Amino acid sequence: MKKIIFSLFVALSSVSAVQAADANAGKEKSATCSACHGPTGVSASPMFPNLAGQNDAYIIKQLNDFKSGTRSDAMMGPMAANLSAEDMADLAAYFSGLPSSIEQAAAAASSGTSTDSTSASVASAAGNVEVLSSTPAAAIYKGNVAAGKSKAMVCAACHGADGNSLIPMYPSLAGQSANYLAKQLADFKSANRKNAVMAGMVAALTPEDMHDLAAFFAVQSSKAGTGESNEVGHKLYLGGDATKGVTACIACHGVAGKGMKQAAFPSLTGQSQEYLTQQLASFRNGSRGNDSNGIMRNIAIKLSDADIKAVTQYITSLK
Ligand code: HEC
Ligand code: HEC
Ligand code: HEC
Repeated sequence: MKKIIFSLFVALSSVSAVQAADANAGKEKSATCSACHGPTGVSASPMFPNLAGQNDAYIIKQLNDFKSGTRSDAMMGPMAANLSAEDMADLAAYFSGLPSSIEQAAAAASSGTSTDSTSASVASAAGNVEVLSSTPAAAIYKGNVAAGKSKAMVCAACHGADGNSLIPMYPSLAGQSANYLAKQLADFKSANRKNAVMAGMVAALTPEDMHDLAAFFAVQSSKAGTGESNEVGHKLYLGGDATKGVTACIACHGVAGKGMKQAAFPSLTGQSQEYLTQQLASFRNGSRGNDSNGIMRNIAIKLSDADIKAVTQYITSLK
């Protein structure tokens, strides 16, 4: 028994001894984690655990277990699949060094950030608008919904008056992440995302206009998908493709395709198969290159035409 405990101790301590974990590197690597676990390791959604202040050896063990499949979770499996031992150690060093959720809440209370409505301050602290749909838009979006409504008249011809497009080649904007919408408008204006029609539409827009428009469309209700499901596409969406190194779409676009609003991971639900196919093809051939760090180009380049057909078909069935 003593022997077992001793070798366990050696195994655990060697984790930290062999890898000189770097919390700063971990902070950079944690950008994708923040969508679910919160920007300060405190999650805004009851579905995702807090990581701030967690023991580092425990975090490393969980990540290894998600990677090997010993602990199975549809979201964490693909997230851990791409992490090296060094990445895990760095991430664990970063999260374990953050003040715990209780300490963070106490600090926020004493600095007076939770003055008016607590839910609004939780929303801005944790950065997640998804779980707080009842909070007035003004409290969580930069833009002004009413101002956005009048500015959106010119968009209606293509994107629909309520942001639900009736024409397959034009994307729906209703219920989309406001951060994502504002980013796209700025990208069209800077030509970081190239499209002749949209370039003309945004030429005269100020950053304030963009935030107002984004806020207006973000609070419109989106329509559920009406397409038929697809078995192959379903598998790819949920599990990715380990042989090709394709990360599962679910990791960023969510179980129901609604994306991660605060992280500007777009909702895909309700888009036409035609639009989805065109965007994946553009990421694949690089003609759309406005995704930070090539996050979508790196995935699309590994997809065959058949993969794209199957996965876009599946996405049109998401409600
Ligand atoms: C798409 C959402 C999502 C993203 C992105 C994500 N996680 Fe998770 N994570 C989860 C969920 C859901 C669980 C709970 C899994 C379960 O129920 O077993 C979890 C659990 C964990 C756990 C176990 C916590 C515990 O108390 O047992 C660790 C550690 C973890 N995640 C680390 C990370 C790291 C590091 C990243 C970034 C590289 C990351 N996660 C990105 C959703 C996510
Ligand atoms: C004449 C038709 C037309 C009009 C009018 C128009 N758009 Fe667009 N919009 C498009 C097309 C086409 C695309 C797809 C561009 C591409 O393929 O990259 C698009 C894409 C977008 C996107 C990106 C959506 C996504 O899911 O990535 C946003 C945001 C957007 N438009 C907002 C607006 C706003 C706001 C207005 C009004 C100020 C507007 N559009 C007016 C045709 C139009
Ligand atoms: C690691 C995160 C991540 C994963 C995994 C991921 N995506 Fe994305 N996806 C993004 C981000 C971020 C964007 C928006 C890029 C930008 O800023 O324009 C995006 C954009 C898209 C768009 C364009 C949406 C629009 O409205 O124009 C489509 C379509 C898409 N992804 C499909 C997929 C599919 C299919 C998969 C799985 C095979 C997948 N994504 C996996 C992060 C991800």
